[in-house]
Order: sequence, then structure tokens, then C-alpha cells
Amino acid sequence: MTEVGIVTISDRAAAGAYEDHGGPALRAASEGYGWKVIAEAVVPDEIGQIQATVRAFSAQGCGLVLTTGGTGIAVRDVTPEAIRGIMRVEIPGFGETMRMQSLGITPNAILSRSLAAVVDRSLVIALPGKPSGAVECLSFVQGAIDHAVKLALQVPTSC
Ligand code: MTE
Repeated sequence: MTEVGIVTISDRAAAGAYEDHGGPALRAASEGYGWKVIAEAVVPDEIGQIQATVRAFSAQGCGLVLTTGGTGIAVRDVTPEAIRGIMRVEIPGFGETMRMQSLGITPNAILSRSLAAVVDRSLVIALPGKPSGAVECLSFVQGAIDHAVKLALQVPTSC
């Protein structure tokens, strides 16, 4: 069974100024796909904290790490930079698919720099911060996730 870690990336949620709705929404979606959520965290939009949390979840056995937030173009949005700083490979089709499918829902989808990558032995998917957007984007790529997680566990990766 795919074991999942969920990281909400938000300065306001991490400071307690704002209730985290993205993490619980992704937990419910993950459970709906038959995955087991084994780790959850809320961290501020800080590259070092994002990287440390993703790597800790990977070391803990999360084959899949979902992040929500920080994919846009605001000054504090650094999630793509954090993940690219620690990834082995990026998987561009995930970001391409999430944006293309989301454009049918909102033109603002083009603002998200959402992506997927292999970090250590985990598939990491960076989803937008809006809870409904995160769940929508996950649904657009869900069909490839179990296979990608299996491949991410192998080093080096092969089909
Ligand atoms: N994608 C979907 N499917 N649904 C959405 O509502 N919101 C967009 C976009 N992607 C959205 C979406 C908006 S408004 C922004 S600003 C970007 O994601 C980046 O969001 P983030 O900075 O919170 O990650």
C-alpha cells in the first residue's frame, strides 16, 4: 500500500493565523485512493524547512510526499525551488498535466508552478495551495502515481 506524507506549506498556517484546510483535504483524497497517510506537517514558506520535511518523510518510508502551497508567483512562493534543490529527477508530465487539466476549471491555473520529482526514494508532488485546487490536481495525475512510486523506490529508476 502506498504510504503518504502530506506537507502544507504556508506561512500563515504555520504561524497558527489560519487553519490548515489543504492538509486535511489531501488526507481525505489520499484515503479515498486507498493510500495510507503516515505523516503530516505544516511548515512556513522557507526552503530549508520544506526540504528537511520532505526528506524526513521520505526517510520515514513515505513513498509519496504531497505538498500543498507555495507553487505560485508571490514573493514567498518557494516550493518549486525547494524541491528542485534536492531532487534526483523532475517528471515534467505531472506539472504539464495538472496545468492543462486545471485550465478547464480556472484560467489562474497557469500561475501554478506545480511539479513532480523523485527525491531520495520518494515521489514528491507539489500541488497548489487552494484545497480544492490541490485535490483537483491530484485527481488529474492519480492514475500514474502507484507506478511512479514503485519506480522511485528503485535506484536507479527503470521501467
Ligand atoms: N489549479 C486548480 N485546479 N484549481 C485552482 O483553484 N488555483 C490557481 C493555481 N492552480 C487553482 C489551480 C491559483 S489562483 C494560483 S495563484 C496557483 O495555483 C498557485 O497557488 P499556490 O501559490 O497557492 O500554490
